[in-house]
Amino acid sequence: MSNEKIINDIENKYQQLGENPETYLKGLLHAKPINYWDYVEADTLLSLQKPRTNFKDEEIFIMYHQVTELFLKMMVHEIKQLVYEPFNESVWLEKLDRLNRYTNMLIGSFDVMKYGMNYDDYNTFRSSLTPASGFQSVTFRLIEIYCTRLENLINEEGKNRIGENPSTTDYFEHIYWKDAGLNRKTGKKSLTLLQFEEKYLDRLVAMANKTKGATLEEKILKTQNCSEALKMKLKEFDHLYNVAWPLVHLETAQHYLDLKGENKAATGGSEWKKYLHPKFQQRKFFPTLWNNDEITNWGNNK
Ligand code: HEM
Repeated sequence: MSNEKIINDIENKYQQLGENPETYLKGLLHAKPINYWDYVEADTLLSLQKPRTNFKDEEIFIMYHQVTELFLKMMVHEIKQLVYEPFNESVWLEKLDRLNRYTNMLIGSFDVMKYGMNYDDYNTFRSSLTPASGFQSVTFRLIEIYCTRLENLINEEGKNRIGENPSTTDYFEHIYWKDAGLNRKTGKKSLTLLQFEEKYLDRLVAMANKTKGATLEEKILKTQNCSEALKMKLKEFDHLYNVAWPLVHLETAQHYLDLKGENKAATGGSEWKKYLHPKFQQRKFFPTLWNNDEITNWGNNK
């Protein structure tokens, strides 16, 4: 494209906006060239690690959580485009490939946690982090809400408890993740859960109401001719996010908290051995794509 054509196009662009192109061209003349550090906000990003102890590996712990949050945000970014746009199979195929790639990266890199921190140091500095827990990641919960109907986030015990025609609030009362911090007999909640609900519950309920009918699962259920290729990719994502990642995460918890059969308390205070297992959570985004055998064996293999 010639320079003349570019200038012409710029003039047209601003004229169509009802603006004076000359002002914008002058602005361009004086604008400072952009640089890498401002563009990616490197200085801000690299100033966000604030350990609470002097153990060197605490910074590794913080940074890997931050890396995970960014990957989860990339996933939300892709999923939202599927939720809020009309169904288009080729777009879905491409986005599902991205979601599977990101989740595989999180699974493949989890060794940074399992083997990448000094065992004794981790077990010492983690007590300074109580009652904070990855459990309080709202991005992790947003992905669930965008992907599937709330009824798929209720495990078998919850299904027996919940009444007929539950409202969104009823679903959140019985959602599987409350079991990490709620004693259903006494009604007592852990501080980890109380903090999380106080900060995010209203937002999650609003999000769930907004997304009702448009979750990935519901869009697929409404689609008459969803190809086998797309079904395979959806199943792959369901398995990676709801079985494979939870299992590498659980193995890491076992490595640090249960190495010598000690069964240490987690910072979030859950009965983590039971709670973190995909068999207990029974979380599936696309349950209708799985057969009975696959559902029975859910969580048995990575
Ligand atoms: C040494 C590393 C880690 C250990 C030992 C660990 C341990 C735990 C435990 C025991 C829980 C259950 C809640 C509690 O009682 O605290 C939990 C929940 C959770 N953790 Fe981690 N975690 C580790 C690293 C991570 C990382 C890097 C992330 C990434 C953000 C993460 C995200 C989560 C999430 C999302 C939950 C809730 C899972 C669910 O509800 O299904 N964890 N973690």
